[in-house]
Amino acid sequence: MIDTDPGIDDLLALLLALGSPELDVRGISVSYGNTVVENAYRNAVEITRRAGRRITLCVGARRPLKRDLAVAAETHGASGLGYAELPPAGVILEWVKSLDRLLADQPEPVTLVTLGPLTGLALALRREPDLVRAKVARHIAMVGNLAARGNTTRYAEFNAWCDPEALDAVFRAELPTEMVGLDVTREAVLGPQEVTRLAHSSSPLARWIHDALRFYVEFHKQAEGLDGCIVNDVLPIAALIRPEALEFEEQRLVVDLGKEEGEGKGKAGGGEDQRGRTRAQPDGARVRVATRVDMGVVWPLLSERVFRWATRATPTPITEAGATA
Ligand code: RIB
Ligand code: CA
Repeated sequence: MIDTDPGIDDLLALLLALGSPELDVRGISVSYGNTVVENAYRNAVEITRRAGRRITLCVGARRPLKRDLAVAAETHGASGLGYAELPPAGVILEWVKSLDRLLADQPEPVTLVTLGPLTGLALALRREPDLVRAKVARHIAMVGNLAARGNTTRYAEFNAWCDPEALDAVFRAELPTEMVGLDVTREAVLGPQEVTRLAHSSSPLARWIHDALRFYVEFHKQAEGLDGCIVNDVLPIAALIRPEALEFEEQRLVVDLGKEEGEGKGKAGGGEDQRGRTRAQPDGARVRVATRVDMGVVWPLLSERVFRWATRATPTPITEAGATA
């Protein structure tokens, strides 16, 4: 099961998961994060439709537990998928199942991959802690950073920064959680030439992925002077397919809650706001932290199961509004 805030790197992660026979994607839980939840839900519908798959969708979270909602339009575009063409959003999400209900429907325990803020999982733990422990055999999260510089503030990674209270609750639950943070994902820089190659394909799907990725490449150039783009969310999925892709160490971690909303940004008592900073602390929660990545294992998966697959794919027809054949 994948909890995601699609999101351009989420797009690649979802296509990799859906294109890998080793994985049985039992459901996709959609969260706010890179964009508002209505866009993220529409994006998840469009991604699974273009992948030719019918996957049960639910809504993990619409907004943070306490914090103001903040999305990353500058990074992923107003739609959440850059320049990719999309149908209108606006699905009324009131009657869509929540993550805990989707977990309850699973006959067997699952691996839960979270690729966005941890709010959905924190809400499920708050509502049904015993159910979550019974049905989540393993939790692997793209979240946080230790030695690596943050990408939202100097100290914090975006998924942790969005809802530090949620990450704090998830850490304390010791499901157990495996953290795939910026310390390894910053090595997952997809080169501009890989992105450009998609533009020259005759496949509409390849060009659609290109339209999403080229926005993301433009952002990385402008924000970090980087050639290419960091495909963070691909790593947890790749590690499920090829465990040798990542090495982990058990550490004891905490997440700083920083200053309450409205306490003013920036300097807190002389120091910059530590909101969302994940760091080692002897009495912290037990978390397995990804410390090394072998991109030589990851790139062939992405190349074969997403990019090469996309260039061969034929469009999935729409039979009625949004449904797939
Ligand atoms: O910090 C990177 C993470 O935040 C990725 O999961 C990206 O998609 C955003 O959700
Ligand atoms: Ca994400």
